[in-house]
Amino acid sequence: MTAWMTDRRDDPTPCREQDHGRFEITQRDGRARLGRLHTQHGVLETPALLPVVNPNIRTIEPRVMWDKYGIQALITNSYIMWKHDDLRKVAQTDGVHKLLDFPGVIMTDSGTFQSYVYGDVEVGVDEIVAFQRSIGVDIATMLDVFSRPDMTVTEVEHAVRETEARAAQSLKAAENTMLNGPVQGGVFRELRHISAQLMGQHPFSVHPIGGIVPVMEQQRYKEYAKIMMATLPLLPPNRPVHMFGCGHPMLFPMSIALGADLFDSAAYALFARDGRLLTPWGTERIDELVHWPLLMPCVAHITPEEVRRMKPKQREELLAHFNLEVTLAELARCKQAVRDGKIWQLAEQRSHQHPALREAFLWLTTPPTMERNVRPDRFYTDRDAARDRDRDQGMWEDAWDWVVWSQLTPRTGGVLWGGDDTFGRPHIAKARRTLQLRWQPRQETEHVVVFHGIRGPFRERINDVLEWLKTQHDGVQPMILTPLGLVPVSLEDLNPFAHLDAPTWVLRHQPEHDWIRRELTRLGLHSQPFATVDVNGDGMKQRLASALETLGLSHEVHQPISTEQREQARASLRHEQGVDKQCVMLNLDRTSAEHVMKGATFVVNREGRMKNINNADGAHLFSPRLRDGGFSLATAGAHALLEARTEPLPTSLPRTEWWGHGSKGPALVVVNEDAEPFVRKGRNVFHGFVKACDPWLAPGEACIITNEEGSLLGHGVSQCTSTEMATFTKGIAVKTRGGYEG
Ligand code: GUN
Repeated sequence: MTAWMTDRRDDPTPCREQDHGRFEITQRDGRARLGRLHTQHGVLETPALLPVVNPNIRTIEPRVMWDKYGIQALITNSYIMWKHDDLRKVAQTDGVHKLLDFPGVIMTDSGTFQSYVYGDVEVGVDEIVAFQRSIGVDIATMLDVFSRPDMTVTEVEHAVRETEARAAQSLKAAENTMLNGPVQGGVFRELRHISAQLMGQHPFSVHPIGGIVPVMEQQRYKEYAKIMMATLPLLPPNRPVHMFGCGHPMLFPMSIALGADLFDSAAYALFARDGRLLTPWGTERIDELVHWPLLMPCVAHITPEEVRRMKPKQREELLAHFNLEVTLAELARCKQAVRDGKIWQLAEQRSHQHPALREAFLWLTTPPTMERNVRPDRFYTDRDAARDRDRDQGMWEDAWDWVVWSQLTPRTGGVLWGGDDTFGRPHIAKARRTLQLRWQPRQETEHVVVFHGIRGPFRERINDVLEWLKTQHDGVQPMILTPLGLVPVSLEDLNPFAHLDAPTWVLRHQPEHDWIRRELTRLGLHSQPFATVDVNGDGMKQRLASALETLGLSHEVHQPISTEQREQARASLRHEQGVDKQCVMLNLDRTSAEHVMKGATFVVNREGRMKNINNADGAHLFSPRLRDGGFSLATAGAHALLEARTEPLPTSLPRTEWWGHGSKGPALVVVNEDAEPFVRKGRNVFHGFVKACDPWLAPGEACIITNEEGSLLGHGVSQCTSTEMATFTKGIAVKTRGGYEG
């Protein structure tokens, strides 16, 4: 019978022995990830919420959490069990799973939080870990030293050092039980850095971020975001990150977008006791409600008024169910958003629900240098105030890079305009940075003509004049002005630039001279004069003629060109597109890209857009992707790019990610001999079989797969960054797109 008919779910299947403690990523959206943590009580899917269960007061029975809500893991307190003789005996005799009647993953805390609330605890460092192991928990916690936000630097440094000093003995006491290694550091960025690095050096299974409960209670969400940004980039990426004591759904989207994997919540029960309801936008009191803020299944049959009339115990239980349902629903929404590549969009939407969250979001997404990335300068006025441009600048830049470079771009589908926030989105920042780092103007470029004024695509409107320009003025570089930035015309169809779904007034922006100049400079066109041409409405050719006149160029735009000239111009434009796309999407320098394109032929669809680029022998090099403006590599292309490579073969797995490698080609992934025959047949590359890779490997980007001799085995799309490649031991590392048996 199915669980739905019996209302009882089967017990979990233990993980394979060799997988115990391993964590793998199955989906990602930048740093946000869906993962699987392998334990003896099942494979825990992350992000996950671990409800806090007090073994003495079970507001909702753990069995109900498992059967009714499909909750795969919970957290309870080992110190409470250790202190109470009756609980301790049962736990040690029957095990913690039986004591709580919960078949899933059980994490325990160590008593640190009790020491924060009540002062000292009398249990020993090894003793509490050994106790947790003895009662059969899946993930135990060492006795760390809590760092409060009101502590001095000296006090927090002591907490950080003392926590680390206890790490080795705690791990020894844990034996093969998975252990949490909490990161402390209060609100001090440097101490968070130090703590993350020190704790990351020990073989912990999970890293909770500790000392954040008071920060959340005081709604200092900007501080919370800063703590995350100071910590997560420095932790080993193959270990789940747990936000200790974070159970308010309001914080889920932002936390998940920044890389959080686990949450625990006592809030669902504590708030219920107080007559308060959790929602993704804050907290509401049952006393003040006529209607439910969200019609969750457990209250669909009853009104707030009727709930108020219930006996306190019953009311508390029902509200705890309500809070848990709301929390789980928001978590599910976040997980779907990660799958859809929309976690930052959700974080952005939620940020509007609460001023403190908005402040945190603006702090995160606003560049400290006040560089006006995107055109409408006025958009940044309220953002100026959001960023404290003092001591946090350096930290912001490094950590924001860590967020930005992991983003997937190009993507399919439209970008929904969301006001000023649109321009701070990390995947848009990545698209802009990639373009600006990698695109190289042709040496012949003497002038620039900027087309603007319509929603796009521009090609139907301007193809004619592009061919004319190519024939008459090869030194003119045509560019397209989009609200997300200036792009060369060859990349006109590139997402996100081409795909902004916005009101007409945003798309039909008037060009601002200074902004265009800055954009051109970022693209390496420092001094070339430019003129603008509005593509909208009749008389476009006349406007082009005027633009050329201002540049001092001949402007007989009505003078026709011959069929032969037109054909030649078309071939040149296709060639340029092939070169520009190689530069931006495959990280090639212009000379190598030109070389690869020598003698290339094009397969074109009915609208004249390129479908395939073949080499002089007719072998398939690349395919421009019509859906997102991207550029897919084919096997002959991989061959050509490997030949064009001037960098030495990577010989190790990098300890740090480094993105500044413009023009060095697509990243190389070197696999071991066990993987070689599989990759040659086109099978994916798995973690654990990779010997070396380039530090600029990025998720969603094309990479070339070789053996240790540097022979081509295939090519694919990386699923990870280079440090993830260096640390993960399970999951897909590269989705192979083509194997090479040659
Ligand atoms: N629960 C909430 N915060 C903390 C923390 O910093 N350490 C531990 N061990 N438990 C917590």
